[in-house]
Parts: sequence; structure tokens; C-alpha cells
Amino acid sequence: MTQQTHTVTVHLGDRSYDILVGRGLISSLGNEMAARLDQGASSGRQALVVSSPEIAALYGAAVSQSLESAGFQVHSALIPAGEQSKSAESVAQLYQALYDMAADRRTVVVALGGGVIGDLAGFVAATYTRGLDFVQVPTTLLAQVDSSVGGKTGVNFGSAKNLIGAFHQPRLVVIDPDTLRTLPPRERRSGLAEVIKYGIIADKVFFHLLRREINGLLDLTSEHLASVLAHSCTLKARVVELDERDEGLRAILNFGHTVGHALEAVTSYRTYTHGEAIALGMVSAALIGEEVGITRPEDTTSLVTLLRAAGFTVRLDASHSLDEIVRLLAWDKKSVGGSARFVLMEQIGHATPAHPVPESVLRHALQRQTAFTL
Ligand code: NAD
Ligand code: GLY
Repeated sequence: MTQQTHTVTVHLGDRSYDILVGRGLISSLGNEMAARLDQGASSGRQALVVSSPEIAALYGAAVSQSLESAGFQVHSALIPAGEQSKSAESVAQLYQALYDMAADRRTVVVALGGGVIGDLAGFVAATYTRGLDFVQVPTTLLAQVDSSVGGKTGVNFGSAKNLIGAFHQPRLVVIDPDTLRTLPPRERRSGLAEVIKYGIIADKVFFHLLRREINGLLDLTSEHLASVLAHSCTLKARVVELDERDEGLRAILNFGHTVGHALEAVTSYRTYTHGEAIALGMVSAALIGEEVGITRPEDTTSLVTLLRAAGFTVRLDASHSLDEIVRLLAWDKKSVGGSARFVLMEQIGHATPAHPVPESVLRHALQRQTAFTL
């Protein structure tokens, strides 16, 4: 049964769209799409639902049924789960599926899955016949609060993440928190790192709500779950509206990601989930902020306390090579003149981008994090 629906509008002129958040919403997907894509004239319009076998087994039938009853002709394409599917080969597979179904400019691509499916399907939608309508139905917490919003799509190439990509805003995002019930607890926690990040960079009151609700958010019993998802989307949307093409302010969404990405890379993406790496990276950023006099130690303590309550590791594993991490940071696309640039927390609820941080400061902060006793 559909309960209260939260609507967040992303205001981007003629690329504006709604994000709907509500329990049971998956069963109204077709009607919500029809209302927005065609002013009701969805009859005969083709939809390609892109998913992975596991997610399709859970939610594919409900999605197809909902689309068919709203008049869409439904086709589906299955891509194996996992980051390795964000590849040129998967793009070609989906182009083939669109070609085989004789997709035309009215065809809509629906991504049903986590960030991997969303980024991949979005890129295919961005490029097939120079742009098809695209709808996101994210099923991981990370995808519901982050990757489905903002229009970044893309795939990996060689060893580089997201090297090939396009900005292509969805026409609609439909978030059904009930889908999180089948998500493994580790993946749920992982997505919460991004939620905590929003509190740090943009909203102190939200940060304090997260402190109170963290257990209920982890086990999905919190009555605030849907509103926390919706508010996370709102906070991201407000940033994207100001800097859609990632030319300045949008970098604040990368709080914790600079060291986080380096940790994912030095461990060959095998040790940490994205959120676990970002949690460690947020602590690194707080310690770096302390070193350069921007972050107050008591704010670092608040961040660490919440991350710990959510079950994240905050101490840096001493077996990681600091040399390797520092080398990766110097190569990071955000670095200038060899100094990596960091998003730093000025206080809980406010972060600023583009602080150049000398290597010696970085090393000292990371060293402190390996001996962390907070
Ligand atoms: P994911 O898509 O790999 O999903 C994680 C796992 O959960 C997969 O095995 C998936 O099959 C499974 N799963 C998904 N939904 C499920 C459900 N409801 N029940 C049970 N299992 C389910 O990982 P993710 O964390 O969602 O996304 C990571 C990707 O997102 C990365 O490629 C990253 O680069 C990208 N990303 C993109 C943006 C953006 O702005 N476009 C932002 C952040 C991350
Ligand atoms: N995940 C960062 C962004 O969308 O810009």
C-alpha cells in the first residue's frame, strides 16, 4: 500500500524533474511516468528496464506490471551485478537491446537497481540516438540518496573509474524505501555514510536527527526513514541546481571522497564498500581540517561518534601504504601543483571546497588516523 509520498523537485529549467519517495511506490511507477513523460499518452511507448538478475527477481515483475498497466510496451535487459559491469561491453549490450527492440526517440530507459545499474543505464540513455528519456528506480541506499540524483552517468574504462560519461538528468526518480529490506545490512550501512556526509556539509539540524535515529535507520525501523531519504535528495538537489556541471560548488559533495577514493584504489576495490571508504575519508578530511586550522576538534569528535554509532571503522589500517595513498592523491583530478585539494568542514553543517593541502600536512593527518584512539 502506498503511504505518504515525499516529492522533491530538482529545479533545472527544462531539465527539471521530481524525485518521489514513498513506501510501495514501485507499484505506481507506470502511472507516475505516464503523467510526466507524455501527459498521459504513454500508450504504445516502449520502455527498456535495465536491471541485474537478482534485483529483477525481486522487483522486476512489479515494475513490469506497473509499466504495462500504464500502457508501456516493456522490454528488459539484465546485466550482472558488480562494478565490473560499468563497462564499454555492457554499454554495447544495452545498445544492442535498444536496437533489437527498434527503440525510437519516445523509448524510455528505466534503471532498476543500485548505482552501477543507474550509472550504466543513464549513460546508454544519454547517448543512444543522442538522448532518450531516463527514469531512475534506485534500490540501494546509496543510489536512493546519491547516485540517482544529479544526472552524472558513466562507465569505467581501463583502470579508471567513471572515465567515460555524460551529464544526463533523469525525467523522474522513484524511491521506494521498502526495497531496502532485501539489501544486505553492510550495503545499508554503506549508503548511510553519504547521508551523514549531507549533515556534515549542509545541515546541522539534520546531522543531529541522524544521531538520534541512527539505529532505526540501520535496521529500517525509523519512522523518519522516508523523510531522511527525501531530505538527503533535497540537500543534493540544492547543490546540483547551483552547479549542475560540476564546475565549483558541487565538489562539496565529495567531502571524504578524496582519501576515500584513494583507499578504494589501493585496496583494488576489494576491502571496503564505497561508504566504508568514504567514512574513513571523512575522518581523514576532518583531521586534515584540524591540521590547517579549519575544523574544530570537537566537530571531528561529533563526526567520529556518529560514524562509530553507525558501525563504521574510523581508524586507518596501518597496513595501507601512506606513500601509495599520497601518490594517488597527487594524481587525483582535484590536485593543483602537486597539492591535493580537499573539501573541509568549517563546522558541522558547513563545508567548503578546494582547499590545497601540502603533502606534509596530509601525511601527518593520515598518520594520526592510523593511531586513532578517539
Ligand atoms: P551496486 O549498484 O553495485 O549495488 C550493490 C549490491 O547491492 C549489488 O550486488 C546489487 O545487485 C545489490 N542490490 C541492489 N539493490 C538491492 C536490493 N534492493 N536488495 C538486494 N540487493 C540489492 O552499488 P551502489 O553502492 O548502489 O552503487 C555504486 C556505484 O554508484 C559506483 O559505481 C559509483 O561510482 C556509483 N555512484 C555514482 C554516483 C553518481 O552521481 N552518478 C554517485 C555515487 C556513486
Ligand atoms: N556524487 C557526487 C556528485 O554527484 O557530484
